[in-house]
Amino acid sequence: MKEVEILTPVQVKSYNELTDGERELVDAARASIAGAYTPYSHFRVGAAIRLDNGVVVTGANQENVAFPSGTCAERSACFYAGARYPDAAFEMIAISANGTDGKPTPQPTAPCGACRQALLEYEMRARHHVPVILDGRDELYILPSVASLLPLAFTEF
Ligand code: THU
Repeated sequence: MKEVEILTPVQVKSYNELTDGERELVDAARASIAGAYTPYSHFRVGAAIRLDNGVVVTGANQENVAFPSGTCAERSACFYAGARYPDAAFEMIAISANGTDGKPTPQPTAPCGACRQALLEYEMRARHHVPVILDGRDELYILPSVASLLPLAFTEF
């Protein structure tokens, strides 16, 4: 028997430490929270994806009275990007949220498991690592790839 450890490298930055490109995407994610439709949870999430054609696609969570019919910000953004720009590769992703108090979450907001799985497929289509920025009021996490958020992923059958 042997044991292995799977580690996730995370850069922890303040907003002021972001590069121009990172800050621009975080700002887009923050702005896209305005499109959230959250009458049930009141937890409002925005996601922004920069594509290699220069376009930034955004999304926000859309809830539904039949709860599972709603979708998260990340999937609304990545499915729109895939449908609208099928030949463009993802370059970077940023996720931002306002908590139920209406204020930016103090800690970085991380995507749910289903969104990690969905985003991973676009990273695989891009054939390169797609960094993910998780926004928080007190600090931001920058992960080197979607894969680093989803170790031991299901990728083929
Ligand atoms: N949600 C997202 O949009 N993205 C996340 O990363 C976590 C959760 C949404 C789903 C639902 O509308 C609300 O937040 C509460 O779970």
